[in-house]
Amino acid sequence: MFYPEEIIQEVRDRNDIVDVISQHVQLKKQGSNYFGLCPFHNEKSPSFSVSPGKKMFHCFGCHAGGNVITFVRMYENYSFQEAIKVLADRAGIKLPEAEMTEEMKKKAARRQRLYEINKTAATYFFYRLRNKGGEHGLEYFKKRELSEETMQKFGLGYALQYSDDLVKYLKSKDYDDELIREAGLGVFDEKDGMRDRFINRVMFPIFDANNKVIGFGGRVLGDAKPKYLNTQEMPIFEKRKNLYGLNFARSSRSNNFILCEGYMDVISMHQAGFTQAMASLGTAFTPEQALVLKRFSRDVLLAYDSDGAGVSATLKALKILRDAGINGRVISLAPYKDPDEFIKGEGREAFEERIKNAGNGFMFEIKVLRDGFDLSDPAQKTEFYREAAGKLLEFDEELERDNYLHAVCEEYRIPEDGLKKLLFAEATKKGLKRERAEVNVEFTEPVAKSGDDDPEGYAQRLLLTWLSEEPEKYNKIKDLISVEDFVDPLYRKVAGSMLEQLKSGDTDPAAIMDLFDKIEEQQRVSEIFHTRLAALKTDEEKEKAFYDIVVRVKEDGLKNSMLSAGKGADGIKKMVENKKILENLRRAGRI
Ligand code: UTP
Ligand code: MN
Repeated sequence: MFYPEEIIQEVRDRNDIVDVISQHVQLKKQGSNYFGLCPFHNEKSPSFSVSPGKKMFHCFGCHAGGNVITFVRMYENYSFQEAIKVLADRAGIKLPEAEMTEEMKKKAARRQRLYEINKTAATYFFYRLRNKGGEHGLEYFKKRELSEETMQKFGLGYALQYSDDLVKYLKSKDYDDELIREAGLGVFDEKDGMRDRFINRVMFPIFDANNKVIGFGGRVLGDAKPKYLNTQEMPIFEKRKNLYGLNFARSSRSNNFILCEGYMDVISMHQAGFTQAMASLGTAFTPEQALVLKRFSRDVLLAYDSDGAGVSATLKALKILRDAGINGRVISLAPYKDPDEFIKGEGREAFEERIKNAGNGFMFEIKVLRDGFDLSDPAQKTEFYREAAGKLLEFDEELERDNYLHAVCEEYRIPEDGLKKLLFAEATKKGLKRERAEVNVEFTEPVAKSGDDDPEGYAQRLLLTWLSEEPEKYNKIKDLISVEDFVDPLYRKVAGSMLEQLKSGDTDPAAIMDLFDKIEEQQRVSEIFHTRLAALKTDEEKEKAFYDIVVRVKEDGLKNSMLSAGKGADGIKKMVENKKILENLRRAGRI
């Protein structure tokens, strides 16, 4: 670990989780917890909870969860170290010099060198474009109607035809072969040694959100293949997380972002004044990029190419946006192929108009769906209705679903009653998405029925949630339940640490969280501490439920010990012990 455990503990303790989250999410007190709209998915009624007692947050809708450090990591897209820094600052805690291992230091220095070499290369390409030998490049950009100002803003450049021009230059600046290769600026050739990777191409430096050059796209001047050569994935060039143009778009004054496919589209839009435009880096739009956009709470408009590939990329991007809680809209470029051509053909006002008229993403999906059917054929028409109904089911909010149902019916002249019926039929087939409903649903019937199939360790989660909320219950189970009763390795780690804490009388679920590095693991831990207990009214009901849960966990434990009983005397002893405990519990019928 980077920082000592005590420091992390202090950072956690001195940053009140309700305060920190309140800066980003409007919270309302409800009982001993706070509720608000989840910032990690799209919802209209609050299922995001913050528990000051557990010092954790948890969303019952999308299952995001963790402690205050997790929140900052997820919300700001920070690494663990970055989150600690921000929170330490916030609480006025002075961090000790980071305890970097030799390997970490080496890695950090390497990244630093990669930034430097990229910057040097960008400066070099930029220089080449404007000097002897760069005429072809300059001519090319002029042909594409780029102004000098635009070329400057995007730092456009040119890679010469000589095949070791850049490599020579970089070496003269003390960059070694290995670094040149890792940065993707040179390739090794058996015969000639290190050679330039980009040859006779116009160069688009790619900046991260903080204006650092992290890679390049190089375009051929003619029709050769590949059209673009891009820097390969490397430590500072993560295509999933970066967006071309974001460094400028983030400070544009628009209330939306425009996402398009190509570098040239971005540049062309910026030149026309649409400085909110950006593109992914020669790859499909990713969930990571969606999260980056989400931070800015702006509308996201898609201006992908109008060909078949563009349409299917649009559908994929809409889905990714929706999963991130963003309702994307779609800009129609017809009859042009891409934003660059549209703007050249129709000018900026016409494009402004298209932005204004950008269509709802869902309605776009329905339209694409419709285009796949021949509606003059009754069978196909029915199939279109059925699939449209199926798509409507993706909305789990009834009101929202109804609004869309209404809109679809109006647009395609479908009788509303008919489509509604189809929708219910589809719903029973697939099962309505129930994520949200769970939040307020009260469990009736036994909380943990014995003998049920429970592949996900429901009773184990319930027990841990309960213990975290009522630590005094520990006395009742301390001789009955042991860490081995928890089957899943992650559950076992959590339970082990929880039982330790309970024994010492000092429970702090938020601390358990930090035993896990990965956000995905933390989500599962959060789940363990937020498994809904039934809304049990009387003490008697509570006692009974608690008893049921303990029995259930013990059954899991027994099953588990039976499986490992073959592994020697200890295993058999444990099994016999478990059997006895369970028998006694059953006989007593209470706890
Ligand atoms: P396009 O072919 O639409 O390129 O690819 P473009 O940016 O519009 O360029 P022009 O206008 O034809 O000159 C869209 C994006 O896909 C990636 C690049 O990021 C490009 O901007 N791409 C395309 C590649 O990475 N490699 C290729 O060979 C082609
Ligand atoms: Mn294009």
